[in-house]
Amino acid sequence: MTFSDWLLVGTLLALGGSWNVIHADGGSERNCSAIPPYLPSTVVNTTLRLQALREDMSSFNVSAYIIPGTDAHLSEYIAPRDARMAFMTGFTGSAGTAVVTLNKAVLWTDSRYWVQAERQMDCNWELERDVSISSITDWLIREVSDTDNIGFDPFLFSIQTYESYSYNLVPAKLMLKSIPDNLVDRVWTDRPLIPPDNLIRLPDRVVERTWQMKVEHIRTQMTDNPYKPTAVLLSALDETAWLFNLRGNDVPYNPFFYSYTLLTLNEIWLFVHKDRVTEDLKLYLNSTCYLAHCVQLLEYEQVRVMLKNYMTTSGVKVWIGTEYTNYALYELITPEEKLLTSAYSPVLTTKAVKDETEQRILRDAHVRDAVAVIQLLMWLEKVVPEGKETEMTAAYYVNECRSKQKDSRGPSFETISASGPNAALAHYSPSNATSRKLTVDEMYLVDSGGQYLDGTTDITRTVHWGTPTDMQKEAFTRVLMGNIEISRTIFPSGTKGVNMEMLGRRALWEVGLNYGHGTGHGVGNYFGVHEWPVGFQSNNIPFREGMFTSIEPGYYKENDFGIRIEDVVVIVPAHTKYGHNYLTFETVSLVPYDRKLIDTSLMSTQQLQWLDNYYLTIRELMGAELDRQGLTEEKKWMLKHTVPFQRATDSAAISSLSLTLTALATALLHNLL
Ligand SMILES: *[C@@H]1O[C@H](CO)[C@@H](O)[C@H](O)[C@H]1NC(C)=O
Ligand SMILES: *[C@@H]1O[C@H](CO)[C@@H](O)[C@H](O)[C@H]1NC(C)=O
Ligand SMILES: *[C@@H]1O[C@H](CO)[C@@H](O)[C@H](O)[C@H]1NC(C)=O
Ligand SMILES: *[C@@H]1O[C@H](CO)[C@@H](O)[C@H](O)[C@H]1NC(C)=O
Ligand SMILES: *[C@@H]1O[C@H](CO)[C@@H](O)[C@H](O)[C@H]1NC(C)=O
Repeated sequence: MTFSDWLLVGTLLALGGSWNVIHADGGSERNCSAIPPYLPSTVVNTTLRLQALREDMSSFNVSAYIIPGTDAHLSEYIAPRDARMAFMTGFTGSAGTAVVTLNKAVLWTDSRYWVQAERQMDCNWELERDVSISSITDWLIREVSDTDNIGFDPFLFSIQTYESYSYNLVPAKLMLKSIPDNLVDRVWTDRPLIPPDNLIRLPDRVVERTWQMKVEHIRTQMTDNPYKPTAVLLSALDETAWLFNLRGNDVPYNPFFYSYTLLTLNEIWLFVHKDRVTEDLKLYLNSTCYLAHCVQLLEYEQVRVMLKNYMTTSGVKVWIGTEYTNYALYELITPEEKLLTSAYSPVLTTKAVKDETEQRILRDAHVRDAVAVIQLLMWLEKVVPEGKETEMTAAYYVNECRSKQKDSRGPSFETISASGPNAALAHYSPSNATSRKLTVDEMYLVDSGGQYLDGTTDITRTVHWGTPTDMQKEAFTRVLMGNIEISRTIFPSGTKGVNMEMLGRRALWEVGLNYGHGTGHGVGNYFGVHEWPVGFQSNNIPFREGMFTSIEPGYYKENDFGIRIEDVVVIVPAHTKYGHNYLTFETVSLVPYDRKLIDTSLMSTQQLQWLDNYYLTIRELMGAELDRQGLTEEKKWMLKHTVPFQRATDSAAISSLSLTLTALATALLHNLL
């Protein structure tokens, strides 16, 4: 399951973990039954592009063409040049599928996007308020005559997507026709180019394992595998980037570049846009050719030809991760005995466990990132009562603060800065039209993150600058209790996140509250902010030492407020009285929670102890960092917000203990004398 599927799991409320952004800009909706039709200025006239597409469809002998909203790597963020669904329909939401027949054009999308679709599509397009593949195939069965072909670009279909279409269409005698030459691209004359940026190699200071070591490690997993694969095919963009310690700039927010890798026991074929590879990088990839570590550079588009060619060799077997391999490559791996599948490739499962350097630098990145978030919260506390700031200006401010930190590489996703009822909307990010003024009367939620050369961050804090209601305090405290309950859990190595996920909900469930999204996701080292396959879902892999995940319970009251508390944690060994090989979480996000919203009377002693220990860590690490950066006002703010909750009782306990000791010592002295 790809990320976008994940956020639709179970519910179309779909407050997924991905928080893809919706700009619910103001403006009116189209009215296609008015005469003439009413079209707001936000719609795109798609008449000519549809006409051109239909001509191509006829020449390819298909009577319907499916246009998914994804790219060939099933990426979470797609580049503008991959926004084919948006180009054809005008609709720019992040989830949907378009289908064009010779006389109709229809978009399927979920409830988050219905209003947006009505504002952006012209009357050439119908809107189907559904997203299931069976709804699309039912429609096709009604609209397309038997034995006609339905065309699709196999690069834009996951294996699972293809199988769902095929399962539903083949019994109806409709034929799916794979057309690797994308028909939208043929009519998209001003399709955006790939950004001109060259690939970069990570500096040595952030790398522990060279690409040669990683290649050997993956090859060892191949030879150790009982099914004896001879090659691994890498399709997700972070897989190739990780293997070679390279980064690029081809998609927004993620430092990825278009690529595939075919790694065999003695060859390495890297498919990229070769003009983006500098001479220096070629040397980097070619300096160890004498050791069977020799990268053959091939053009990105050659991957199918190469794979097809490799499949003609006898005795080969290609190992793929089915979650990220597109159907265009999968369909070439035949016959079946030449195929080995697992949900995730060995690269994704290996990458999930950070090495010591990656752990250290990812922690470091979170220290600098916390400076930026502390600066935001401190500033808001000061300026919100003046009544001039908005969701937009706050989002801008935190991005500015991050950009001043060392090794900053921009935001890791579009900042969610949401006040009052806006915070209760799934996936909300402010735009000029929707941005609310920040006031002391509303709760405010900010979910943001940064890319740094050493790490990727993601943190959410919810605050109130005035007087919260009892309900708001209780809900916030229970969300915090959920965060703490997971964070302080000690568990045997290899436990799955899904088996402890309810700890994040328990305090909410007790009073009949809940949240409609996932509880956490992996994060990377200057990589994706939602890094699979780590997390708390049933299809995530078991937790091991050295993995990083977010923990992010929440609570949302429609038309009123939204609460989410998100921290990134690293999995570390736990020392238990009897057992070995137990693990726990250590929080690496270092920003205090809003004290005003915490009702300590609801919390257990253990929860308060955890909180005080966490605040002690913030004081230690952030104190040193804020000193280093000469930020005295920020340091004062941080100390004020991290005063221990249990200090009163603790110091009483300590002083009575020291009294006893003094008395004892005195008595001893007396006895001795
Ligand atoms: C669309 O236009 C028709 C005809 O003018 C009108 O009856 C209908 O109320 C309009 N629909 C909306 C949603 O405005
Ligand atoms: C859309 O473009 C076509 C072709 O240029 C034109 O004939 C048509 O009037 C336009 N439709 C609208 C609603 O502007
Ligand atoms: C178009 O496809 C149909 C159905 O598969 C087939 O019968 C027909 O021969 C094809 N026509 C051309 C020109 O390829
Ligand atoms: C490395 O050298 C080999 C042998 O000369 C050549 O085939 C290959 O294309 C080179 N690779 C790169 C990345 O320059
Ligand atoms: C939003 O408003 C600001 C300030 O008026 C302006 O600079 C900016 O371009 C606007 N952004 C958009 C997306 O309209």
